[in-house]
Amino acid sequence: MEHILKAQQFSNREDLDKIFEATDWIRKNPNPLFFKNSGYIMATMFYEPSTRTRFSFETAMKKLGGGVLSTENAEEFSSTAKGEVLEDSIRTVSVYADVIVLRHHIEGAAERAAEVSDVPIINAGDGAGQHPTQALLDLYTIQRECGSIDGKTIALIGDLAHSRTIHSLAYLLSNYDIKKLYLVSPEFVKMKKEIIYHLAEHNITIEITSELAKIAPEVDVFYQTRLQKERFLASDFQMYQKYHKQNEFRIDAELLKLMKPEARILHPLPRVGEILHEVDSDPRAAYFRQVKNGLYLRMALLVMLLNGRYIIK
Ligand code: ASP
Ligand code: CP
Repeated sequence: MEHILKAQQFSNREDLDKIFEATDWIRKNPNPLFFKNSGYIMATMFYEPSTRTRFSFETAMKKLGGGVLSTENAEEFSSTAKGEVLEDSIRTVSVYADVIVLRHHIEGAAERAAEVSDVPIINAGDGAGQHPTQALLDLYTIQRECGSIDGKTIALIGDLAHSRTIHSLAYLLSNYDIKKLYLVSPEFVKMKKEIIYHLAEHNITIEITSELAKIAPEVDVFYQTRLQKERFLASDFQMYQKYHKQNEFRIDAELLKLMKPEARILHPLPRVGEILHEVDSDPRAAYFRQVKNGLYLRMALLVMLLNGRYIIK
């Protein structure tokens, strides 16, 4: 692994298994200090807001014994504010850091960064593009919570057009023999054609629907997302407001009654009303366990990336 830019890089189940094995190992050995005395530094450059991704990468690096450089709100607090282009900022930071975690509002920004960087770039979300490390932790969560990914019926719900975590997860799921993939969204935020083609090429059975309650009894994994407000242009903002208010795909206590007892509900978070708080105490609500998995998985990825080995033993 050199850079982590998009989920299509993970097109081999053996590689995914190795990442999950390493994550399991870290879970059992949560303070392994692999980077003690290494001098390794990770820079987080965030041009968009974040709670989980930035904090989890920074916690991961610190727990491994490495150092962290950070600019949140890089648009304002780095020399971007003076007009510096991304490529120059990346070239500069790659002099100081051994790995750069980049979140940017422009799709393709991580790939641009990788072209000029001397150190690995981790795409922590590029506009409405991808968020591969989130999808890896989502997949790991499905495997851990459900025992396997093969044979499962999975529903991707919400803003399929703009949700970068859904895009990455859909690519990763194409490595598995899942039973069925439901794509559940309002028409105006439906899944990109290129991803549908990719899924079809990988023999994934897809059904597009807007009837969440109807399919709920057969779904094993509900992957809920918010409408990505920041991606809507002023011209379609009214549409956003209408659907956000209407919230027809909301997960609430009523929907829980229709779900299988062993189903699981995931969400990359933040949520803004699409899963009600009344759902949180149900054992099927896996989204905060998912957050914890993210820390372990990112620790595993950093070790694999910087120490160049797959299995940590
Ligand atoms: N936190 C995730 C992302 O940055 C999901 C979201 O914001 O809705 O893509
Ligand atoms: N899931 C996720 O990426 O969360 P943040 O936007 O808070 O980092």
